[in-house]
Amino acid sequence: MIWGFEKVEMPDAYHIPVLLHETIAHLNIKPNGVYVDGTFGGGGHSMEILKRLGAAGKLIAFDQDEAARANVPDDSRVLFVPHNFRHLKRFLQLHGIKEVDGVLADLGVSSHQFDEAARGFSTRFDAALDMRMDQRQERTAADVLNGFSEAQLHKLFEQYGEVTNAKTLARTIVTARNIAPLQTIEGFKTAVHDVVKGNPAKYFAQVFQALRIEVNDELGALKELLEQLPQVLKVGGRAAIITFHSLEDRLVKQFFKKGTFDEVDENPFEMTTVVNPLKAITKKPVEANAEEVKRNPRSRSAKLRVAEKVAV
Ligand SMILES: C[S@@+](CC[C@H](N)C(=O)[O-])C[C@H]1O[C@@H](n2cnc3c(N)ncnc32)[C@H](O)[C@@H]1O
Repeated sequence: MIWGFEKVEMPDAYHIPVLLHETIAHLNIKPNGVYVDGTFGGGGHSMEILKRLGAAGKLIAFDQDEAARANVPDDSRVLFVPHNFRHLKRFLQLHGIKEVDGVLADLGVSSHQFDEAARGFSTRFDAALDMRMDQRQERTAADVLNGFSEAQLHKLFEQYGEVTNAKTLARTIVTARNIAPLQTIEGFKTAVHDVVKGNPAKYFAQVFQALRIEVNDELGALKELLEQLPQVLKVGGRAAIITFHSLEDRLVKQFFKKGTFDEVDENPFEMTTVVNPLKAITKKPVEANAEEVKRNPRSRSAKLRVAEKVAV
């Protein structure tokens, strides 16, 4: 489930929002409500929320990439939080907000992050192997490539990238870095050149996706966000999550279904009733229609799931 080949549709645009109308419609925006956009980016989704909010409404916009701040509108209803959404509850508390009417997360990286060569996300440019969304974080893609064991690299490329020859790739990386540490995109591509399988653009897109997910602990952050939803949503409040990877979608689906990641004790002699405070609104994920996929190829692997907090 890899998304896009980084086809740049509009080089000037920071990011084209995906499933925009579907997401906003599902959030049921109340004019005086409080909403969280966990992934502000270019602000495409946020702008639509703001259009529907009245003077008393509020939007808390998170983005761990400082570059997103440049897109924040001069609007007293907006509060920008330049941090990872895994700290959602903590920052809401810090700003005196107990509960919110809706939470949106449009996961992954923005087109802007891909298009900035120096960020190291794109296979199209040569740059340092960076891939950090949050530049305050220490660990880069180079650290992962040079520091992970062969077994860890194998698992990483297999699970996050669905790379068919993940084991061979891991071994090749270890052999190469024993000669000299891997520091740049071109250096890395040259070092593994002989084991590339199939279409090189597709192969490297999968490899880079896996590295990016690891560097930014994307699955860990998503899990933590999901676990906070029952605590921060008001009854009737909604969460809309857009994913681009099957592992992410599985986490969202599982959490919306059970309301927990904890193993439920299936002891038939004990009456343990686990009550799920979330109700899935979308039985199947909402996907982009043909027109949107044509206009924005990045949308073709987007999956939107929505849940509502219910009274228990
Ligand atoms: C796909 S873009 C969002 C685009 C946005 N919806 C728009 O319409 O422009 C994802 C953005 O979320 C940020 N991001 C990704 N994961 C994050 C996380 N765990 N915490 C905070 N920001 C995150 C990225 O830095 C990026 O700017």
